[in-house]
Amino acid sequence: MTHSAGILGVGAYVPETVCTNQDIVNRGVNTSHDWIVERTGIHARRLASEHETTTYMSEQAARKALASAGLNPQDLDMIVVATTTPDYRGFPSVATQVQVALGAGSCPAWDLSAACSGFVYGLDVVTRLIESGGYQRVLLIAADRLSHRVDWSDRSTCILFGDGAGAVVLGRVDTGGVVATALHADGSHGSILSLPNDPPYIDMDGQSVFKVAVNCVVPSVLEALELAGLTVSDVDWFIPHQANQRIMDHAIKKLGLPADRMVCHIDRYGNTSAASIPIGLAEASAQFKSGDVVVVIGFGAGFTWGTGVILWQ
Ligand SMILES: CC(C)(COP(=O)(O)OP(=O)(O)OC[C@H]1O[C@@H](n2cnc3c(N)ncnc32)[C@H](O)[C@@H]1OP(=O)(O)O)[C@@H](O)C(=O)NCCC(=O)NCCS
Repeated sequence: MTHSAGILGVGAYVPETVCTNQDIVNRGVNTSHDWIVERTGIHARRLASEHETTTYMSEQAARKALASAGLNPQDLDMIVVATTTPDYRGFPSVATQVQVALGAGSCPAWDLSAACSGFVYGLDVVTRLIESGGYQRVLLIAADRLSHRVDWSDRSTCILFGDGAGAVVLGRVDTGGVVATALHADGSHGSILSLPNDPPYIDMDGQSVFKVAVNCVVPSVLEALELAGLTVSDVDWFIPHQANQRIMDHAIKKLGLPADRMVCHIDRYGNTSAASIPIGLAEASAQFKSGDVVVVIGFGAGFTWGTGVILWQ
């Protein structure tokens, strides 16, 4: 027997420290507020302090998601954390550290690495695990702390990234929920966006990333909508990965979606990598009505991308 999986609760956490474009200029970076806004749409981002580790931000987002689902940590039967900036280079995973921080018993806990697509990758896998009947209530967190992985003298990358975490509790629902997901990857584009061991900073060919991203978003959304038996005109809310306002604007224009259906926070938080979609869900979900069609699209290093279609309850 198959079951349906839906989002039972959402939560997000962003660090307290605000870093404006002017703050970056004040650090001695050869850039300007106007250049950053015009090319990216970013006005500010949040920077994690020492205590705001990936585990800490994940725990904070998770507590809010559990509270909004009306569940306790002991109710979870799995924890998945999508991150490419774990606190330990290899292990233990962030998920196991979150498990102990929450007091979530001994449920399985593991990290998933798909860069900025991590949330959508997790949404796909966790949905299928719940649909199979093997798991009932899974905490999916997406968290990244990329500000510690940029070279602050590289003006083409240090302006883009911010830190944060978002979380959802996924569980069995009777109707609706996650009705379609479609994932892809093309490793031949690996070199255009990488985080090497040495030097341990993001290495990006911005123009190539821009082009690949623009080309994958619309086909991915259309593929997932078709799997769901829906069309663009059914979409109530569109939450793209927040990498660049111009990529997002291009996507809605090509799809023919009104601008007010798109959830945006890149102006305040920059690119928070895997966390950007669940932060958008957490911030916008108060406006969602039962039955609304919510489309989330992630894309990022690898190159990886994927779309999820959710019928909100
Ligand atoms: C990085 C990005 C903002 C650069 O914008 P762009 O319009 O492509 O700019 P270019 O790389 O063509 O550079 C144009 C000029 O601006 C300069 N420049 C780059 N960063 C700058 C900055 N922060 N401030 C001022 N000038 C800058 C470049 O040096 C270049 O100067 P030149 O013409 O004298 O050589 C843009 O390519 C981008 O957002 N790409 C996608 C990145 C992304 O989304 N990554 C994450 C994916 S998950």
